[in-house]
Amino acid sequence: MAIREVVSYKDEFIRRKSKPVKVFDEKLWELLDDMHETLDEKMGAGLSAVQVGVLKNVFITNINNMQMEFVNPVITKTSGEQYKKEGCLSVALPFEYVKRPFEVTVEAFDRYGNPFTFTCQDWTAVCICHEYDHLQGILYIDKACIPPKGKGEE
Ligand code: NI
Repeated sequence: MAIREVVSYKDEFIRRKSKPVKVFDEKLWELLDDMHETLDEKMGAGLSAVQVGVLKNVFITNINNMQMEFVNPVITKTSGEQYKKEGCLSVALPFEYVKRPFEVTVEAFDRYGNPFTFTCQDWTAVCICHEYDHLQGILYIDKACIPPKGKGEE
C-alpha cells in the first residue's frame, strides 16, 4: 500500500475522461488499496482514480467510516434535489454550493467484478455524484451555484 499524489485541478490531466475497467486483477486491487490509504491520509469523503493519475472508471467513498468501492459505475436513477457545499482534494479553492439530486441509484462492480446496485441519499448521494463527475473530467467548481433562498445547507 502507498499514498499516491493527488492531481491538482490546475493540471489538465484532471479534465481527461476515464475509461472502463476491463480486468479485475491485482493491479486494480492495488489501485483501490492505495486510493483508500490516500483518502484516509487526506481525510476526504471520496476519491476517483483520475485524481491519483489513473484514467479508469473507479472511485471510492468513505462516509461515516463506511468505505465503498465503485468500479465502472453508472448512475441509473436520480430524484429530488439538494444544495450542499462541496470541496475536493484536487481543488485548493473555497467550498461552493452545487445542486445535486437528493437520491441516486448507482450500478457498479466491486473489485472482483461482481455487479451491485446501491441507492443512497443526502451526503452520500452528493459524494457519489461528485466522484462520478470526476470520471467525465468535471469538477464541482464547474457547477458552483447560488442556492435558491432557504435551500442552501452548510
Ligand atoms: Ni473531487
